[in-house]
Amino acid sequence: MSELGNLTVLVVDDDASLRSSLSEILKQAGYLVEVRSSAAEALHILRTARFDIVLCDLKLPDMDGLEFIPRCREADPKSVIVLMTAFGSSEMAIKAMRAGAYDYLSKPFSPDELILTLKKIEEREQLLEENEALKSAITQKYNFSNIIAESSVMKDIFETVKRLANFNTTVLITGESGTGKELLAKAIHHNSPRRGRPFVAINCGAIPENLMESELFGHKKGAFTDATRDKKGLFEEATGGTIFLDEIGELPAHLQVKLLRALQEQQIRRVGDEATIDIDVRVVAATLRNLEDDVQTGRFREDLFYRLNVVSINIPPLRERREDIPVLIEHFLKKHNKRLGLSIKSVTPEAMKALMEHFWKGNVRELENCIERALVLTESESVDVDSLAEAVRGAPEARADAAPALPEINEDNLSIKQHARSLEISLILKALKKTSGNRTRAAKVLEISHRALLYKLKEYGLT
Ligand SMILES: Nc1ncnc2c1ncn2[C@@H]1O[C@H](COP(=O)(O)OP(=O)(O)OP(=O)(O)O)[C@@H](O)[C@H]1O
Ligand SMILES: [Mg+2]
Repeated sequence: MSELGNLTVLVVDDDASLRSSLSEILKQAGYLVEVRSSAAEALHILRTARFDIVLCDLKLPDMDGLEFIPRCREADPKSVIVLMTAFGSSEMAIKAMRAGAYDYLSKPFSPDELILTLKKIEEREQLLEENEALKSAITQKYNFSNIIAESSVMKDIFETVKRLANFNTTVLITGESGTGKELLAKAIHHNSPRRGRPFVAINCGAIPENLMESELFGHKKGAFTDATRDKKGLFEEATGGTIFLDEIGELPAHLQVKLLRALQEQQIRRVGDEATIDIDVRVVAATLRNLEDDVQTGRFREDLFYRLNVVSINIPPLRERREDIPVLIEHFLKKHNKRLGLSIKSVTPEAMKALMEHFWKGNVRELENCIERALVLTESESVDVDSLAEAVRGAPEARADAAPALPEINEDNLSIKQHARSLEISLILKALKKTSGNRTRAAKVLEISHRALLYKLKEYGLT
């Protein structure tokens, strides 16, 4: 749209009196107007000047309007064409729209009708512009400038992602909690030709087993008690885009079969429906489990594993790529300063040392939380060691044993609830220490499910 805020309109009509009255009406309404009396003259000026709107007669002396439309679009693909027709024939109007006109006005029309039509166009253009701006903001968010890394392992991962983003291959992302699996999945989507279409994420571990199939594939009305109407599943929602199957290792066995079939046949079936629906979706899956182990133990289907594992990307834990810590800190300082309206630019050397040495069992997420917390607590210009959480601040040896001492059992405190809680925390921390922070193995040691462990970690604020 015109930078001055006034839209520019080119009026093309061979009727001189109509030209001047249209010009008058438009100028009064605040438009910048040029008039031309033939198609040739109009095309001539369109090649050199930009018009937001071309208002032209269907019958021009040197060219039929239907012929003029494509020529006009060729000369300036961005201008919006509105046709004026004396015949008011809907057939002609449809033809004009098909040829690329945006709208038409049947002569005679009132000044109000004309202005209303142009206002509609203005609104549409503004929406389109906003939409473009939003899209580019999102793309910017998920191109690699938003995933920060310095280590060569991470840079290799970015290279891989850039190469594979353009293909429709299924990708399996593995890595501990908080390593950035979801962020990477989004980067794959936003660097792919599918970026304009939806990115749909589902956590396979968080949805009750009985709802999962309908969530993924949809259902037909009446398929089960609560199915009061037809419902699209996420595979259909993601049409043309990417579906992110998070915690794929938690997918129940019967759905593993159905997912495999969907991937192989590129078709799904809604629950309770016989008909198949073609799908066009790229699948990115993630897991913090070791799926190969799960295949060995029969917990995860081998055929599905190979189908998903066409390309696999393992994001190493943060403690194995400590070069990333300083750049991540810088990134999170910027991000949270801005959000919190602060201007704390740096980290003292002592704080940096502690941050570099910490075990980071919660990986990048833990680091981000730590920085955010420190910013809130810091009163000076840089984050000092005192504003870091105790677990981060302490000596590395002591931290590994961060389990608090169990409270003494005496008559003043016989709460089973409190003692059980302390005991659980202590056991969990010991198990995590024993397994170097590997939650899957820690859950085994603790003899609880992986899901239960995640729940407890969250509940006790250990993540
Ligand atoms: N390389 C990175 N650069 C910037 N931010 C990152 C990076 N890696 C992770 N993060 C941030 O850390 C947080 C955790 O990332 P994300 O949710 O993608 O991890 P995840 O592996 O999916 O974790 P979980 O297994 O717990 O679901 C997010 O806030 C994300 O923005
Ligand atoms: Mg995740």
